[in-house]
Amino acid sequence: MKLGIFGFGVVGQGLYHVLQQSNTIQAEIAKFCIKNITKPRSLDATLFTDDKTELLDNPEIDVIVELIDDAEAAFEIVKTAMNSGKHVVSANKKMIAEHLEELLALQKQNKVSFLYEGSCCASIPIIRNLEEYYDNDLLTSIEGIFNGSTNFILTKMINESAPYKDVLKEAQDLGFAESDPTLDVEGIDARYKLCILLYHAFGLITDPHTLFTLGITKINTFDIEFAQKNNFEIKLIAKAKKIGSQIDATVLPTFVDKSSILAQTKNEYNAVILESAFSESQFLYGKGAGDKPTGSAVLSDISALGYGYRYEYKKSAKSKEKIELHEDFQMR
Ligand code: HSE
Repeated sequence: MKLGIFGFGVVGQGLYHVLQQSNTIQAEIAKFCIKNITKPRSLDATLFTDDKTELLDNPEIDVIVELIDDAEAAFEIVKTAMNSGKHVVSANKKMIAEHLEELLALQKQNKVSFLYEGSCCASIPIIRNLEEYYDNDLLTSIEGIFNGSTNFILTKMINESAPYKDVLKEAQDLGFAESDPTLDVEGIDARYKLCILLYHAFGLITDPHTLFTLGITKINTFDIEFAQKNNFEIKLIAKAKKIGSQIDATVLPTFVDKSSILAQTKNEYNAVILESAFSESQFLYGKGAGDKPTGSAVLSDISALGYGYRYEYKKSAKSKEKIELHEDFQMR
């Protein structure tokens, strides 16, 4: 495989590192396309360009890896790449959540693979699990901690009484937060991930804006003290639960008992609890942010392209219009 990689930020650099350590993946980086070509980089300058056509129009590049920040620019890149018959790997949750239906259609139309394991919960292989292991009809709920930055912030605020602003800055310095951290702290990043997982868990394509979302910015000193006194952690929980023929999907800060499995998920770690009719409860845990954990998820997609892996278009996928919101949700 010859890779054309868009972006050399936290995830792009993480991918470069993990790719260097891999002896089994037969992939060569042709070029990185970056926004600012004058910025000093740690690698040879000939590996970089700011001209996207050098990647998109190069017939030798058969895989485009999209790791940039700007979701709309990313969407244009991914569309062009798939329409040119190239496989695409992306970690852009905003772009995927907002354009999922069209992206899946493009993948199908062009008979290419479009993989995005790195977009949800970084190192946790949640999409692959939902695709390959579970029967959609038997899954009853998926919930967890889908954002590493807010989990890092809340862990420090409750366990070390650290001030919000300081820990937010720390999460940014460590490369966990989005370049616009509002996306993390207002719960929007977790909402995008929930939206993507709603498709892979239940075959539902949803408009992210319809999911009830509350971030962590309204958590006050009273809430923190209440949690500390009562042996609680506060976690930003994303949840989708089947209730009859409907699904209740929300992102909400929640008090959880310190002895619970989600309370044990600290700092930038993420966790997913799946419930299904017969296997009952299952728990997946791993680093949910950071260069190498996310880079390793992107690497696993590149590796999967090596054996022609594609997400199957779910037979049960319903259009947005058909989604019924649970009545509790409508009342909120
Ligand atoms: N800002 C995201 C997070 C990065 O904190 O979870 C990983 O998607």
